[in-house]
Amino acid sequence: MTDEQLIAAAREAALKAYAPYSRFSVGCAIESADGRVVTGVNVENACYRLGVCAEQSALSAAQSAFGLQNVARIAVSGGHLSGEALSGDVVCTPCGGCRQAIFEAAALSGRDVEILCTNGDGSSVERHSIAALLPVGFGPANLTDAG
Ligand code: THU
Repeated sequence: MTDEQLIAAAREAALKAYAPYSRFSVGCAIESADGRVVTGVNVENACYRLGVCAEQSALSAAQSAFGLQNVARIAVSGGHLSGEALSGDVVCTPCGGCRQAIFEAAALSGRDVEILCTNGDGSSVERHSIAALLPVGFGPANLTDAG
């Protein structure tokens, strides 16, 4: 799948976000090493702090579909819903918690997972790796000395 296709999948997914409180819809598409794609959206809650991010939703779908160890590439798009489309100028990068969750998948896969981050209308794209977004992260290897 091309970058453009993966981003389109993330933007399309965002249309199904449940974000009545922030009114900021996020979609995430994850591609496996063998080309399968799953998506996720942010799902908010009246108890604000219990909302779930799009990346976490998509990682859950990825685990069910092909396993976190097969995560290869991720696209994230965030913005507001304007008519039938996702809009907005500011590029959506994964929050700290989502970086930690992606770091776990990267540790399992042994890949420096690539993350394509876009604004709502998809016109601005930033290409990052999880190592760049979460340098010196804490992952499974840090638990080596646990009892
Ligand atoms: N959000 C995500 O889904 N992913 C991120 O990486 C950043 C933030 C969601 C959480 C909340 O529902 C809304 O965007 C505003 O923060």
